[in-house]
This record gives sequence, structure tokens and C-alpha cells, in this order.
Amino acid sequence: MAATPGTNPTPADEAREAAVEKALARLDLDTKARLLSGQDMWTLPALPEIGLDSLVMSDGPIGVRGVRWTADDPSVALPSPTALAATWDPGLACRAGVLLAQEARRKGVHVLLAPTVNLHRSPLGGRHFEAYSEDPYLTGEIGSGYVAGVQSGGVGTTVKHFVANDAETDRFTVNNLVSERALRELYLAPFEAIVANAHPWGIMTAYNTVNGTTMTEHRYLVNEVLRGEWGFDGFNVSDWLAARSTTGALTGGLDVAMPGPATVYGEPLATAVRAGEVTEAEVDEAVRRVLRLAARVGILEGADPVVAEPPATVDGEALAREIARRSFVLVRNEARNGEPPALPLKPGAKVALIGAAARDARVLGGGSATVFPSHVVSPLDGLTAALPEADLTYAVGADPNEELAVADKGFTLRAVCRDSTGTVLGTGSVPSGQLQWVGTDLPDGVTHATLHTVELTGTFVPRETGTHTFGIKGLGAFTLTVDGTTHFDDVQTTDTDDPFVSFFGAPVPQARIELTAGTPVPVSLTHVVELPTDAPITMIAFSLCHQEPRRDPDDLIAEAVEAARAADTAVVVVATTERVESEGFDRKDLRLPGRQDDLVRAVAAANPDTVVVVNSGSPVELPWREDVAAVLLTWFPGQDGGAALADVLTGTHEPGGRLPTTWGSLPAAPVTRVTPTDGELPYDEDVFIGYRAWDRHAETPSYPFGHGLGYTDWTYESLAVTGTTATVRVRNTGDRPGRETIQLYLAPTTPDANRPTRWLAGFATVEAAPGETTEAVIELPRRALEIWDEASNSWAYVKGSYEVEAGRSIADRRVTATIEA
Ligand code: BGC
Repeated sequence: MAATPGTNPTPADEAREAAVEKALARLDLDTKARLLSGQDMWTLPALPEIGLDSLVMSDGPIGVRGVRWTADDPSVALPSPTALAATWDPGLACRAGVLLAQEARRKGVHVLLAPTVNLHRSPLGGRHFEAYSEDPYLTGEIGSGYVAGVQSGGVGTTVKHFVANDAETDRFTVNNLVSERALRELYLAPFEAIVANAHPWGIMTAYNTVNGTTMTEHRYLVNEVLRGEWGFDGFNVSDWLAARSTTGALTGGLDVAMPGPATVYGEPLATAVRAGEVTEAEVDEAVRRVLRLAARVGILEGADPVVAEPPATVDGEALAREIARRSFVLVRNEARNGEPPALPLKPGAKVALIGAAARDARVLGGGSATVFPSHVVSPLDGLTAALPEADLTYAVGADPNEELAVADKGFTLRAVCRDSTGTVLGTGSVPSGQLQWVGTDLPDGVTHATLHTVELTGTFVPRETGTHTFGIKGLGAFTLTVDGTTHFDDVQTTDTDDPFVSFFGAPVPQARIELTAGTPVPVSLTHVVELPTDAPITMIAFSLCHQEPRRDPDDLIAEAVEAARAADTAVVVVATTERVESEGFDRKDLRLPGRQDDLVRAVAAANPDTVVVVNSGSPVELPWREDVAAVLLTWFPGQDGGAALADVLTGTHEPGGRLPTTWGSLPAAPVTRVTPTDGELPYDEDVFIGYRAWDRHAETPSYPFGHGLGYTDWTYESLAVTGTTATVRVRNTGDRPGRETIQLYLAPTTPDANRPTRWLAGFATVEAAPGETTEAVIELPRRALEIWDEASNSWAYVKGSYEVEAGRSIADRRVTATIEA
């Protein structure tokens, strides 16, 4: 029944259900089967005969892209999910959700394809930046806040990817072998918590297989666990192209197969019913859930949406900046020789800002989570606005971009579409060198039937003199011409079978040309469009790529060292690139690309007051971390990240983040494997991932789970536990107001080899003025004292004596109480 699990349906729920039943009764089999199949990349068909509008879905999670993959249709870009989790603030996640609902409404989107609540099992996971944490409780709390926020704006969510999509290698086929206990205690736990706390209207089933059954057909996990045990009443949409068989998917609980138009549902589903392979009653169940969603979001006539009045308007720019600074994790801030710590910067200090990413900011991760913000504030922009001109210098230092990137800086391009006779059919705008036209999203006057070539054409004004490299991302026939000379006229091929290679594949360099800064040259990339007739989606996707002249890396470092010497403080921004962290592939190592480690070492040797700002969505190795004064992790900080960085560096705000995941080097990390053998990836570590694994491991991480410094100090005065309520008293002993994230860990007094040494059982954030004392009251959830018992296939409460520990990180526990459970 369509109500919050455990609660009775409200009259409004009942009225919506009645409207759903009425609409369902008026549909014939073919129409029902059609409704369950995407009509294109992002939508379901409208059924005017029952007053149903077309349901529109869109990615997610850090912004709402809308149905078009283009910078023409900009979106607010919030910080990466790792950043949101680093705030340890479900309330802030909720506010992010409210903004995203506002964005969705603005773009005509009814369902957001988010949040991603898979776990940080291995730091090599390519989509690590897009998930929250290694801890299921923190993931569930942040995810619950996010879902509640989005849905309070009347927009649906699809919690994804159900389940165990924790890496990208062979993601369409990998069979993850996971014990029931690890599933329940770790990988399913965030989904379960979000269903219980926030009542999501949707779920997305993953590409991968779990214990031999592909997730879009996993009857046990979807119908028995998710729907049966947990009472989930929302719809289940396949990940894009994940639905594999008509009967398997329907009986496995999949409601909608995306994207269309060619899916395993639609006509094949109606045929399967007529052949007696599935029943019409099973089809009705799926249709009922889609209509229920439509009723909730307000696109089914006769049904009142759950949210009649959208919440008050949110200032997206201000919120993006606030979340960014609340997410930055200051992992090191040393006081040396009696001097105050390096951060915040001293007023009047001369700052040398160094790093390619300080100028060309990397604000979001790659893949389906990509959105196109209307503006990006880089660290250079942010500090330029915050500091007097005379106090700031800039040097590149090292360029992590070892490959070409989508052509954007200095390019003015448009797309010209022609038929086979060369006649122009229409033109479209392309704000960068990346062209992605999915389904019927084509310029006016252009159809797939008539389109023969697409030419990206325009001018390029170099910002540097030297050898520029041009290249192509995409498959098929291309002609590349720069400054009147054709440099490539051939076919590009690939050896991967990932259908999204044009999105995630590597750019191929095809021309190296000497150009002069400021002198414009004409550029043109023509692609012969060949649309396979059997592909499930029609997609024209390719990119013109570019790389600036490569300067001698030693010269760049030497320049940066000079700048650092001349300044009071050196701020070095180091970063990963789109080729390191993205959907579609896993990472090979955790090193910073290019010569960035050499750069930091050289700058730190020249100026002891060196602050390193790490711009990556997930852990990187920081081999020089003990040699620098401060290290600030800024994740992918979203569109206003540079402004937030200036807020934190100058000290108008303190950095608020705490690590949602342990940071350590790859050789030291306990769980790393992402590559299957013979199609199988055993989760051999069972329930021991993240800090649960580091705790049993000989190696010490670089920075422990929960760690992060602010600009004030705290003492933990007391911890009292009454029943399941813990009260923690802390005092701000520093000289400025601050916010503290109080973490509660639970540790069995007698160690048990079958259980982690300790685990996160609760947390709260408090604020206090200098000298002030404040209290946090934290409820210990029953689940914190339970384990999954495989013998009885149920949760078992483990009685006994436990230490309740409150502290600043898993490694910095300040006050303890013993309880008998
Ligand atoms: C991703 C999903 C995403 C979908 C639609 C898939 O490749 O795994 O997270 O929602 O594409 O873009």
C-alpha cells in the first residue's frame, strides 16, 4: 500500500491509489507494456487517454542535467557526493535535495536519478566520488536527508545502484559474490535505512550480477527483501541498458526498462503475456507502480501530487558555496616554531597560488553525473576576489592533464548538419567541443533519416604560443582540419564493448600544430553519422579535444619555486583529471597524475609555509604530507568551489568537513580488488571494508575515518549513556566560534574476531562560541547492536558489554562509557 512503511495510508494516499486503479483499469495490454518501456533516453510515453503526461527522468546526483546533454542548458553544480558526506550533516543534504528539486522543476524533470549509495569498498572504484562513504550508517543518513529534501520539492528519487555496484570494471557483466551478512550489514544497509527514513519513490537496479543473478532480475533482493521485508512501494527502473530479458526482468521485479525506444518491455512484453510466459497481473503490478509515481509527482489527471506547493526558492549559488566550505577537510594544520598554524592565512600575507587546477578548476566528476554549470569559480578567481591584487601571484607549476581534454578554452564552435548531397539541414550550438545528441534531440530541421554529416566548426584563439595538440573522442569516420590543413581523414575504432565509450573513452591525438597566442585559427571536425539499426538508443556523440603546449615540466616547477620563495605562503592546488576519476572505468593507482608530487616537494622545500589544496573526488596518495604546513581536501567542490576555498583559506569560515572514508596509500590499503577473474569478483573481505578492515590491519592509514580539523579547539568533557541515549558534553576551548562533529563509536568490550573492533553508531554536529560548553544527544540505533545471523537468516541482537566512545575520529576517541546491552 502506498504509504510510509509502518504507517497507515493517509486520505491523500488513498485518493491517489484510487486514481491509479481507475487509470489502470482503462489500459489495454499493449498500452500497459508500452508504458513500462522508455520512449527515448529519458522519458516514458504520455497516455493522453488516461490523462497521463510523459514522465521525465534525469541525472543526478550533484545537479539536474535535464534531458539535453549540453552546456546550453546550464544547471547548478553542487559539490561531489563525497563532499556532501564529508559534511556529516543530513540536514544540509536535505537542503541540497530541496535545491535539486527546484532545479528539476525548472527543467521539467519529475524524477532525479540519484542518490548513489553504493559503498567505498575499494579506493580504486572509478565512481568513488559519486558515492558517499565506506560506512553504511553515514551513507544511509546522508542519503536519507538527500531523498527527503528532493521529495519535499515534489520530485521523485531513484536510490541507486541496487546493489553492490561498487566498482566499474566489467560493470555490465561482473558477478559480485557477496555473503548475505555482508549484503545486509554493509551494501543493502543504506538502501534499507533510506526506505525506512525517507520513503523513496524509486530505486534503480544495477548493471552487475550478485551471487549469480543479474540485478534487474533479482527477485529475491527486489521482491522479497526490498519490497517484502522493507515495504518499499516505489518504482524500480533499470540502470541504462541493464534490462536483459523480458520475463526475467518482469518476474524479477523490474518495472521500467530504460532507455528506449528498443527495450525488453513494450512489444516484447505484450508478446510474452500472450505466449503465457508472464501474466498480465504481473504487468499490472509494474504499471500500478509507475502510475503511483506519476500520481505522486503530479502528472496523472485526477490525482493530487504529494507536494502541492513547492518549497520557498533556494539560492543555488549560495548553497553550492556553503556546502563546499562545510565539506572541506583540513587533515593537517601544523604550528611550527611557536608560530600559529599555516591556516587561516595571516592578514596581509603574500600568497603564491600554484597549480593548473587553481586556474582551470576541476569542479565535478566525469560520466553520467556530469552537469554544465553556468559559471565556475576557480581557486584563482576566488582568491583574486578575496585578496588585494598585490598579495597574489599565480604559477602553473605542473599540469596533471597528460591527455587531451574536451576543447573548451578559447574555442567558439557550432554544429552544422548536412545531408548526403552536402546541403545544410540545420545548425546547432555546441558550447564546447563535446557533442552529445541522444534520441531525437537534434537541431531544428534535422532528422536521423536525412542527416549524413555533423561538422563542428568555428575558431580557436590560443592562450599560449607553442605546439597545440588536437584530437578526437568517438568512433567512426572523422575529418579534422585546423587552420586550413586537414590533419586526419580516417576512421577511429575501439577495442572495448562498453556502449558508452564515446562518453567515457580516451581522446586520440591526431594533430600537433604550432600556434601563436592571441591569433585565431579556423578549426573543423566533421563526423560521418552512421546509426546502427539494431542499437537500443540512437546517439550521436563525439568530441573535438585539445591540449595546450606542453612546457618543460622542470621549467614549470622552477617557476613555481621562485613564486613560492617570493611569497609568505605558497598554496599549491593538486588535482586528479577526468581520465583518472570518472564513470566507466576504475583507477589504476592512487597517485596524483603528472609531476604534481615533485611540484609539492619542491615548493615545500622553498617555503615551509606551504598549504596543499587537494582537488580530487576520492583518495589520492599524499607522500609529502608530513613535509608541508597544511593539507586541505576539497573534493570536487562544485561550481562555487573557488569562492568557498577563499572563505576557508582567509578564515572567514572554518573548514567543516570530516573524512567519510579512510585515506591511505594503495599499497597499505586492506581492500582494493576491483577486477573480476572469469567474470567473478568475490568480496572475500566479507564485512571488513573501510575502517572495519584498517582496524584489523598491520598498516596505519594516512588519515583515519572521521578525521578533520577546524579553526578552534574542543575538549570532550563527559559522556553519559542512559538506555540507548548518549549525551556528550564538549567545550570550545579555542578563540573563535566553531562547529564540531561529534562521533559515537561502539566497541564490544571483549573483542570478537567475527565483528569489527568498533563501528560508527551515531553522530551529531554542534556549534559553540569560544569558552562555551554544549551538549549533543545522540540515540544509539538498535541496529548498531545487531548482526545478520546467516543461520536464522535474520537480525540478531548481540547482548553483552560494549564501550560507547565519543570523539573526533575513529582514532581520536575522547570519552568512554561502558554499557550492558
Ligand atoms: C549510470 C547511471 C545513470 C544512467 C543514466 C548509467 O550509465 O550508471 O547512474 O543514472 O547511466 O545516465
